[in-house]
Amino acid sequence: MTVTIRALRAEDYSRWRPLWDGYTHFYGCSLDESVTACTWERALNPHSSLFCRVAEIDGKVIGFALCVLHEGTWSTTPICYLEDLFVDEAARGAGAGQALIDALIAEGKAEGWSKLYWVTRENNPARKLYDRFGEADDYVRYRISL
Ligand SMILES: CC(C)(COP(=O)(O)OP(=O)(O)OC[C@H]1O[C@@H](n2cnc3c(N)ncnc32)[C@H](O)[C@@H]1OP(=O)(O)O)[C@@H](O)C(=O)NCCC(=O)NCCS
Repeated sequence: MTVTIRALRAEDYSRWRPLWDGYTHFYGCSLDESVTACTWERALNPHSSLFCRVAEIDGKVIGFALCVLHEGTWSTTPICYLEDLFVDEAARGAGAGQALIDALIAEGKAEGWSKLYWVTRENNPARKLYDRFGEADDYVRYRISL
């Protein structure tokens, strides 16, 4: 099975949407429809700092990586936050998750980003994949909802 990674396109909506719903369901959250609509629009908007790459197998979109490029005080070049990563349950274990992260690393090197990072739950079994890229650090997150 060959996994292909490419940028999100407007015509992907019918495939992206159930994957997005699967992802929010995975985290037990029900987002307001307006938030999902705004996320979709920004993911397609070349002027937004948010962007999306999708994984395809046999021409079918089976996963996505949604990222935010932001500035940082400790570097002069962009930093990429991989905010959402998801692969259709039926397509897992075929290398799509790895291919999405590999593609972001390659893109970041080509574009001159200084860093790619993501956070996950301590007990997320996906860490089996993440541990291939390096060790988790010992920072903890504080979060205040406003
Ligand atoms: C994380 C996720 C995107 C990985 O996608 P994937 O396409 O299955 O990943 P890969 O096929 O590239 O996995 C590479 C290896 O890691 C393992 N792995 C990856 N995700 C795993 C998971 N959730 N549970 C157990 N093992 C996992 C695979 O089994 C594979 O190991 P192997 O080569 O020894 O068989 C997918 O599991 C997923 O969508 N999980 C639910 C949502 C989630 O946790 N998102 C990340 C939030 S931070």
